[in-house]
Amino acid sequence: MRVSIFGTGYVGLVTGTCLAEVGHDVVCVDIDQAKVDGLKRGEVSIFEPGLSPLVHTNHAAGRLQFTTDPVEAIAHAEVIFIAVGTPPEEDGSADLQYVLAVARTIGQHLDKPLLVVDKSTVPVGTADKVGATIAAELSLRGVDIDFEVVSNPEFLKEGDAVNDFMRPDRIIIGTENLEAIETMRRLYAPFVRSRERFVVMDVRSAELTKYAANAMLATKISFMNEIASIAERVGADVEMVRQGIGSDPRIGWQFIYPGAGYGGSCFPKDVQALARTAHQYGLQPRLLEAVEAVNERQKEHLFELIGRHYDDAIAGKTFAVWGLAFKPNTDDMRAAPSRRLLEQLWTAGANVRAFDPEASAEARGIFGDRGDLVLCDSEYDALKGADALVVVTEWKQFRSPDFARIAEALTDSVLFDGRNLYQPDEIEEAGIAYYGIGRGRSIAQPRCGAKE
Ligand SMILES: NC(=O)c1ccc[n+]([C@@H]2O[C@H](COP(=O)([O-])OP(=O)(O)OC[C@H]3O[C@@H](n4cnc5c(N)ncnc54)[C@H](O)[C@@H]3O)[C@@H](O)[C@H]2O)c1
Repeated sequence: MRVSIFGTGYVGLVTGTCLAEVGHDVVCVDIDQAKVDGLKRGEVSIFEPGLSPLVHTNHAAGRLQFTTDPVEAIAHAEVIFIAVGTPPEEDGSADLQYVLAVARTIGQHLDKPLLVVDKSTVPVGTADKVGATIAAELSLRGVDIDFEVVSNPEFLKEGDAVNDFMRPDRIIIGTENLEAIETMRRLYAPFVRSRERFVVMDVRSAELTKYAANAMLATKISFMNEIASIAERVGADVEMVRQGIGSDPRIGWQFIYPGAGYGGSCFPKDVQALARTAHQYGLQPRLLEAVEAVNERQKEHLFELIGRHYDDAIAGKTFAVWGLAFKPNTDDMRAAPSRRLLEQLWTAGANVRAFDPEASAEARGIFGDRGDLVLCDSEYDALKGADALVVVTEWKQFRSPDFARIAEALTDSVLFDGRNLYQPDEIEEAGIAYYGIGRGRSIAQPRCGAKE
């Protein structure tokens, strides 16, 4: 099938590439000239495991084209995906300007019947707005062309996006138009050969499903972070509690890891946008507001632990920071907990030596050149001249480090483990003071002072 994708970011590029991989003829269009030029040269600007080789082979085979020309993309397509960003507005609601700009462009250039697919995460009612925007442009042109707007929210995870797209848990299609359902089934048939994974519903339910999924996952994280805060105060270890509850299949193991708070481009903005929608309809979303408030508090927690250890005397100290991306296997630092921590450390007069396996370039773009930040080449390089170590992202390569080497390198021999990667006993045996999240035992007995 001939498909065009508006927006060549994480979602648009993965969608376009995976559709091309199964044989569809795909044009990806973006307004970012540099991004499109790079993709034409075979340069994939984001880090996403497995994506680059697929982009190369499909581009070389002619099934995956890149352009900045929307007219070319619209002329090409039987199906158009809208996969542009929906960032938060000041009040938390989703900013639809990019989505509606694409809708206007489609209306201005459409010359044959077409299926328009909302893949961006958009508030309930957006498919209607997209439809009305296209219709208004067609009417300005004085033409009458059939088109249909369906909702098809995306559930891929950054870091495993290609795998998620190629082997989806479910494909949500929001429309009551039988022809549109048939077209979407044909488009996705190669991804669901072994088992039926289509869930077809009305468009508003599909739009709400995406927010409900992200809000549920964010809720699990904030719940566990709140339990961690309680564990810390009562002298319990949340890791034991996690083991104790995860085996209950009604609770499950996933998304019950306490940590430094959730970040990324989706959970924070989607929880806020859903809360905003509830307010707009006269409902106070108490649970969603609490989920967000707990997360905001959690993002401050590592810094609180650091302040507790040092009696707030942090100025002039140097912190090795392991991990900057909001989670492993991505270079994405949008709303990453590391950003809050670094700002707090700098405000307190501390210096940072940071290492992330993939996000260094992103960090350089965000923070620029500054005297209190050194971006290092390895986790051990980050330890050089540092007083303490803070682990912020749970990259696999941080899981089993050489603790003797850490103990030797750190002037103050203290480790703040923002992801509970380590066993406190093992760290303490190496002569390093340990702070984790919700590990009441180590918090109850804070240790101060530099190494003798
Ligand atoms: N990133 C994720 O993990 C993820 C997962 C599921 C859903 N989503 C949702 O998908 C949407 C896209 O997210 P993303 O992370 O891919 O965003 P992104 O910021 O990485 O990419 C958006 C792209 O759209 C382009 N763009 C903006 N206006 C355009 C226009 N008029 N025409 C063509 N291109 C245009 C931008 O230049 C940018 O390259 C958002 O609504 C997001 O909430 C994201």
